[in-house]
Amino acid sequence: MGLDRAASIADLRLKAKRRIPRFAFDLVDGGAEAEVNLRRNEEAFEEVLLTPRYMVDVSRIDTGTEVFGESFAAPFGMAPIGMLNAFWPDADLTLARLCKRQNVPYVASSAASTTLEALAEAADGNGWFQLYVSSDDTVTEGLIARAEAAGYEVMMVTADVPAAGKRDRDIRNQLSVPFRFTPEVVLQCALNPRWALTSLKHGTPNVANYADLLQSATSYADVQKTLITPSFDWESLRRLRDRWKGKLLVKGILHPQDALRCAEMGCDGVVVSNHGGRQVAFGPPTIEALPAIAEALGGRIPILLDSGVRRGADFVRAKARGADFVLAGRALAYGVGAGGRAGAERAMEILLLELQRALGQLGVPRFADVTRSALSDMPASQD
Ligand SMILES: Cc1cc2nc3c(=O)[nH]c(=O)nc-3n(C[C@H](O)[C@H](O)[C@H](O)COP(=O)(O)O)c2cc1C
Repeated sequence: MGLDRAASIADLRLKAKRRIPRFAFDLVDGGAEAEVNLRRNEEAFEEVLLTPRYMVDVSRIDTGTEVFGESFAAPFGMAPIGMLNAFWPDADLTLARLCKRQNVPYVASSAASTTLEALAEAADGNGWFQLYVSSDDTVTEGLIARAEAAGYEVMMVTADVPAAGKRDRDIRNQLSVPFRFTPEVVLQCALNPRWALTSLKHGTPNVANYADLLQSATSYADVQKTLITPSFDWESLRRLRDRWKGKLLVKGILHPQDALRCAEMGCDGVVVSNHGGRQVAFGPPTIEALPAIAEALGGRIPILLDSGVRRGADFVRAKARGADFVLAGRALAYGVGAGGRAGAERAMEILLLELQRALGQLGVPRFADVTRSALSDMPASQD
């Protein structure tokens, strides 16, 4: 099937699955434990119904959105994804450049397989930086100083990693550090020659921002200690707020009280996220957690949302339930996996076309004008 025959993100996912060795596909596609949260994220979006209103002139659709004083062409950007070059070589740079061309934000992960400097250059003003707070303060400070020097103005600190997620697929695939070429991995690579040859050309991906530090890592526990800290608390967040002069967002918020405390501490935004269902299996889908958070914040700071976005209408659903902006993770990643640069472009095109059609069908030509009155479960009198 050619890329132009891929009608949806689900089609691109299947195409990626056919081209990528299982261990690498699972690394991105999988979720925590039995993947209940991963599934629920997507299902919960489908449960949010919007009622179309007709006889509205929708000949001009406007998906433009402003957030943090910046104007973007669409209400979504690329979520931070670590080690994405293992999924498809050069995926990081491909997506950063695509986001620049489309004028949407690209969030460079601390754990990206490309340095934050190279990603800042590729995203060329559209880059935001995602920080994992390390157990070692000097590592954290080093990353912040580099992000500042590279010109990032928006930083999101990820709060939902007090421990690494337990991902059953990765355990079954025996993913390890340093990476081991077991006979099964070699077989999977042989069955996917294009992935294998392209990967060979680009070299083994690593967590590029920590390359020097991790050279001596002999276990996954070593890597975790460098990347994240279980002691990250409100006091640590206060110190980060004092340290970072740009916009500071907290990613991984699911509780209204946590959102409120972030606002009170002077943070500039929260990202309602469950890490794409990769951290816990028992948590709520983000689109379900959103209304209470929006109510608690009462418009004090912008709310971003991610986890489970697969359709253009999901951006509208998120806005109707109180989000200001959305991040797409796997949706765009599947595109790169399905066809490199052309695949990433196809994923972006599908999301944008679906969004435009959803707005037209809904009778709300400007995304900025979507409110909760679009929700089918709002009483008609509240229009
Ligand atoms: C393979 C993979 C790696 C990720 N790496 C990071 C990361 O380095 N930092 C981070 O804050 N979130 C990371 N996330 C979470 C994403 O930023 C985002 O929250 C999630 O992908 C959203 O869900 P979706 O993929 O269903 O859109 C990762 C997600 C995936 C799938």
